[in-house]
Amino acid sequence: MKQQTINIEDALSKASTNIDSLDARLLLEFVKGVDGSYLFTHGDEKINIKESKLFFDLVQERKKKKPLAYLVGKKGFWKNDFFVDKSVLVPRPETEMLVEKLLEQDLDNKDLLELGIGSGVISLSVAKENKKLNVLGTEKSLRALMIANKNAKSLDVDNVIFINHDWNRKWLFPKMDFIVSNPPYVDRSSLDKNADGVWFEPSIALFSDEKGFKDLDTIISKSIGFLKPKGKLFLEHSYEQSKKIVTLAKKIGYKNLEQLKDNNNLMRVSILSK
Ligand SMILES: C[S@@+](CC[C@H](N)C(=O)[O-])C[C@H]1O[C@@H](n2cnc3c(N)ncnc32)[C@H](O)[C@@H]1O
Repeated sequence: MKQQTINIEDALSKASTNIDSLDARLLLEFVKGVDGSYLFTHGDEKINIKESKLFFDLVQERKKKKPLAYLVGKKGFWKNDFFVDKSVLVPRPETEMLVEKLLEQDLDNKDLLELGIGSGVISLSVAKENKKLNVLGTEKSLRALMIANKNAKSLDVDNVIFINHDWNRKWLFPKMDFIVSNPPYVDRSSLDKNADGVWFEPSIALFSDEKGFKDLDTIISKSIGFLKPKGKLFLEHSYEQSKKIVTLAKKIGYKNLEQLKDNNNLMRVSILSK
């Protein structure tokens, strides 16, 4: 039987009965290798059989809640697009708060350590903005490390070094001016089973023991010994963890603590000063 061809407008409207219409547009842009305005101005154009098959296969994947970023292989963060695949967390917009706050510091000729780089979005965004900053990024997952290095290369950032390291093992770093981390902090038992996409993301990037607090505890406790005087630790966490962070930071001996709310008015970032 001869396969039917379909035009852009009809393909989008058919897909939008299954998935969000913006996601449908982004998938078709990806399949056709065009930008957003093209689809608006070429609604009558036919898509070929190969494109149509790929597009509707991707629509089915998205319907199963696979993150859009994994389907198109990239995610925008801060000022750049980053390669992502299923071995890294999909970068979240709220994590840009860490970048914003780091960029408010005097970073010239300073040393920054990032713990758990994932796709490298935090380190690479900051390092690209300030070429005089030296960044050391660590990551336990070798596959994530490969993605981060691929991003460093494609964004032409050379003031970063990424290494394989597990923060539960011995730390052999020099003292740093700044340490930043968006560690896994989700309590596995509290996660909404229907949450969009998260079940496709690596558990090592999401979940932490002790109701999501174990890795934050390790990082807060160990970092104080690796910060220069007046050094600062920048952390992302869930809003439910913000009070626990205050208690722990005081106990460990941090002198100052600033906490910041995200766009939903939830306390999501802590800055601990030595
Ligand atoms: C929440 S993701 C953050 C990734 C990236 N920084 C971002 O903001 O998108 C946490 C990262 O920490 C890494 N990680 C988890 N446990 C680790 C450990 N014990 N040592 C080093 N990295 C770890 C994970 O593989 C993951 O890439």
